[in-house]
Amino acid sequence: MSESASFDPWIANDDLLRVFNWQEVFGNANPVEIELGAGDGGFILEYAKRNPQKNFIAIERLKGRVSKIAKRAVQRDLSNLRALRLQSEYVIGYMCSPGSISVIHIMFPDPWPKRRHFKFRLIQLEFLAKAHKALANGGVVRFTTDHEEYFQWANRVWASAPGWKNIGVWDASDDPKSDFQQQFEAEGKQSHRCQWMKI
Ligand SMILES: C[S@@+](CC[C@H](N)C(=O)[O-])C[C@H]1O[C@@H](n2cnc3c(N)ncnc32)[C@H](O)[C@@H]1O
Repeated sequence: MSESASFDPWIANDDLLRVFNWQEVFGNANPVEIELGAGDGGFILEYAKRNPQKNFIAIERLKGRVSKIAKRAVQRDLSNLRALRLQSEYVIGYMCSPGSISVIHIMFPDPWPKRRHFKFRLIQLEFLAKAHKALANGGVVRFTTDHEEYFQWANRVWASAPGWKNIGVWDASDDPKSDFQQQFEAEGKQSHRCQWMKI
């Protein structure tokens, strides 16, 4: 943490049995949104800056990327953003108290294109059951990918999972772009988006 910062954006992952009380973490009761697989944080850093009335958590498994997000959060004085170096599935399944998250953002998750690797994809029935529990009533998952086949596949998994409703795309025209999004768009690739609400 920078000596001048009044908050530490990097949440320690030293207690895997911890269930977060977000009010304690952030010092307020504002709604909490989470990004899974946040990469270098291009999306969440800017989104947190534009939405100071909400709290944000960036989950990422790679240390260098979490370090980058935490450093930039301090530089930009984003006291509403925290970063946590852990597996997305674990955080959603075991460290978020039920109903404590308002939005889950998933931007360009690893597509695992080979059939024998589909089991590694994030969107699975088991994950959706955990996400459903972590979300508040009416909470949503916003899913964006450049990979058309994963997009179709994920929507089929969602449609077969209990307690979800597809509420279509949201207006993302003013949303900050993630690092992979910028790269893919520069290559002329199209993004596919869907939004599923907990019902
Ligand atoms: C394709 S990149 C996309 C990064 C970012 N969302 C973006 O759009 O720029 C996928 C990211 O998810 C991270 N990741 C993959 N599986 C993960 C998991 N199970 N838990 C946490 N992070 C994961 C990777 O390390 C990588 O940074």
